[in-house]
Amino acid sequence: MMTIVRYAAAIVVLFFARNASSAGDVQRGAKVFQACAACHSLEPGRHLTGPSLAGLWGRKAGTEPAFHRYSDALERSGIVWGEATLDKWLANPEATVPGNLMLFQGMREVQPRADLVAFLRAVSEGKGPAAPKAPAIPDLKTAPLDFIVATIRRCGDTYFVTNGSKKTLPFWEFNLRFKTDSGPSGPATGRPVLVGQGMQGDRAQIVFSNPGEISGFIKEGC
Ligand code: HEC
Repeated sequence: MMTIVRYAAAIVVLFFARNASSAGDVQRGAKVFQACAACHSLEPGRHLTGPSLAGLWGRKAGTEPAFHRYSDALERSGIVWGEATLDKWLANPEATVPGNLMLFQGMREVQPRADLVAFLRAVSEGKGPAAPKAPAIPDLKTAPLDFIVATIRRCGDTYFVTNGSKKTLPFWEFNLRFKTDSGPSGPATGRPVLVGQGMQGDRAQIVFSNPGEISGFIKEGC
């Protein structure tokens, strides 16, 4: 009889000890979220490298409708996001869903994970502290003329880029990247924008509103 009582007491102690150490702190969790913020926004429908985590609680994994970069592994995992599933995923994503595409090695420490999960829950339920803003992406529609690309001429291995102020700079083709941004902060159609180092330096990137524009913009000529 005494043994049973002792066992029962031990279980009660264990239970409380476990709860005490895993009770997450929402404010601390907001800080931990900085490890996620480069890839995840908390604004509904705003997808970055990873899907928006707004309304995550109770959602089935891999089901944000406008996010097209889910792995088959995550979509087929059958996971529903809640305290236990998030805790496991964040501790070790690769072991939880082998073959997933989240480049994050995992958070082995218990307390920051519990804090983060508490924060994600609070945000999902509309009770979170002000969510840290997703990285600011400059609005390319309002880029100054110096950054608007007027023409691109290609001669051999060189692109000659002329900006809206009629200044032309040569770039070795290997140093110039072409990207697209069809999102709300992307450039206007027909007005690609130089970003990054702009017209300074030997490397640059030009952002178009859609891929169809790219080759039409580049005129061959030496
Ligand atoms: C380097 C970018 C990156 C970082 C950092 C990152 N994630 Fe992710 N995350 C992704 C990508 C990409 C996916 C989609 C993975 C897939 O489909 O296999 C994802 C998926 C998820 C999902 C599943 C969402 C859904 O709709 O099913 C959750 C939850 C999640 N991440 C939480 C986090 C949290 C919390 C952190 C911070 C500790 C974090 N992630 C850090 C890129 C990242």
